[in-house]
Amino acid sequence: MARPFLKWAGGKGKLASTILAAAPPAMARYIEPFAGAGAVFFAVEEARPGTPALLADANAGLIETYTVLRDELAALDGALAALAAEYAASDGEERSAMYYRVRASAPQSPAERAARFIFLNRTCYNGLFRVNASGGFNVPHGRYKNPRIHDAGLLAACSAALQRAELRVADFAGICEEARPGDFVYLDPPYQPLSATASFTSYTQADFGPADQLRLRDTFEDLSRRGVAAVLSNSDHPVIQGLYSGLGYRLETVPMSRAINSKGAGRAPIPELLIDNFGRVGFVSGDGGRAD
Ligand SMILES: C[S@@+](CC[C@H](N)C(=O)[O-])C[C@H]1O[C@@H](n2cnc3c(N)ncnc32)[C@H](O)[C@@H]1O
Repeated sequence: MARPFLKWAGGKGKLASTILAAAPPAMARYIEPFAGAGAVFFAVEEARPGTPALLADANAGLIETYTVLRDELAALDGALAALAAEYAASDGEERSAMYYRVRASAPQSPAERAARFIFLNRTCYNGLFRVNASGGFNVPHGRYKNPRIHDAGLLAACSAALQRAELRVADFAGICEEARPGDFVYLDPPYQPLSATASFTSYTQADFGPADQLRLRDTFEDLSRRGVAAVLSNSDHPVIQGLYSGLGYRLETVPMSRAINSKGAGRAPIPELLIDNFGRVGFVSGDGGRAD
């Protein structure tokens, strides 16, 4: 069964069935402009196999990895199996040294770059993705005892699920402009931090700040006006409540435990906000889902 093969901050594995249940019964295309590890995409493919999809993300290495997985599974398997075998045969300091050697490497072929991307994701500290000012991945080694680096069965299932997916490195706004009535768009942006210190929202060189949250709200408004069914998730923060309240959308709070968090206390369920433009307000194609 296909499910995320990467650890990803904000991964939606636990919310996927809720989001899928909220989706309209028919969708011409599933569109995910903040794809990340693709938990909802894989859930859609399982529930409704063969649904055409458009997956996009601003993280170029991530989208290249998906593309290689879709188109060059055998080459990816070979490269990743070699890295996994070397890591498994090493211990302690050797493992660290190997991690930092792979981190500093710049493979020439897409398959080797994708294998490097997955290897670093599975062995780095907490599965984080963070880059320095010049775009170099700079997360330290994670020291998991027995990390699952190469899961051939899972990669094969994910590759099969991706066969009808179009993949794009892009900002969310342009992707949403391409959505048409009949498509279903799920938006899972980097979250509005719940406190000044508690957040991790950087997956690319550019942070996702207040201006982006506002741009996203305007994009959601545009989708709604054009009759495109959309669901958006974010942290249950007053700023987000303020951006989406009073516009006729359904706002629902759901408990969600975070997959990636180093502190035990941080693993307590954190309320998340799900916002849709077609639920209680009675979305009708073209009316924008507005109550007024
Ligand atoms: C919360 S994560 C998505 C998690 C995903 N739903 C999952 O289940 O793994 C947010 C994603 O947005 C991407 N991102 C950040 N800024 C973006 C932008 N301006 N346009 C598109 N994607 C962006 C990040 O690279 C990251 O993968």
